[in-house]
Amino acid sequence: NPLHGAQFVLAAHRISQLPADHGAEVAFAGRSNAGKSSALNALTGHKGLARTSKTPGRTQQMVAFALPPLPQGEGGTPLQARLIDLPGYGYAKVPEELREHWRHEIDAYLHRRRSLRGVVLIADIRHPLKEFDRTMLEFCFQTGLPCHLLLTKADKLSRNQAAQALAAVRKGFADGAQASAQVFSSTDGTGVEQAREAVLALLQR
Ligand code: GTP
Ligand code: MG
Repeated sequence: NPLHGAQFVLAAHRISQLPADHGAEVAFAGRSNAGKSSALNALTGHKGLARTSKTPGRTQQMVAFALPPLPQGEGGTPLQARLIDLPGYGYAKVPEELREHWRHEIDAYLHRRRSLRGVVLIADIRHPLKEFDRTMLEFCFQTGLPCHLLLTKADKLSRNQAAQALAAVRKGFADGAQASAQVFSSTDGTGVEQAREAVLALLQR
């Protein structure tokens, strides 16, 4: 697992506090409680790496994790790669001022971060593509940023239901969008290997 060995670097309240903007970065975005931090832990194979919680609104910072340097083709210098856990979006109990702060910071991050290679969008497979998810997909489409969607908590559905949800979501992708989607579960490991490959492909593109 090339994502193994990820290490916590820092937690930032604003983008200016993030690690220097070079190398390659993939951001984990999604609604509050969707399972972003759990997905990060499953992908890195590191249970306690990102803090998870039953209470929505757990991650209230942008949390940066550094990966061991990734090989980059013949004779290329190793790639400094990071994963960024973004604060959850859309949790009503978070004060409006704070939500506005994160709207602004996430927006600025997505627009300005030069090392950003792609977004891993995490959505609960039982209620995918709420407004935040659609906005994110639309943003990626507009800016040409690739987006890989993890339909997580698939352990809560039958295989058949999960496959149907995946097909419905794929139908909604705009023509020409660099968007992909898969079924995922941090709990039972469904799709973890496939998602690792997708994250690596984003980092190394
Ligand atoms: P915020 O940081 O609050 O935005 O949430 P998050 O998106 O990081 O979610 P987190 O990973 O903390 O998970 C939220 C809840 O969903 C926790 O109770 C997790 O145990 C649960 N959860 C996450 N992934 C899965 C999954 O694949 N299956 C099941 N059944 N539960 C999951
Ligand atoms: Mg979280």
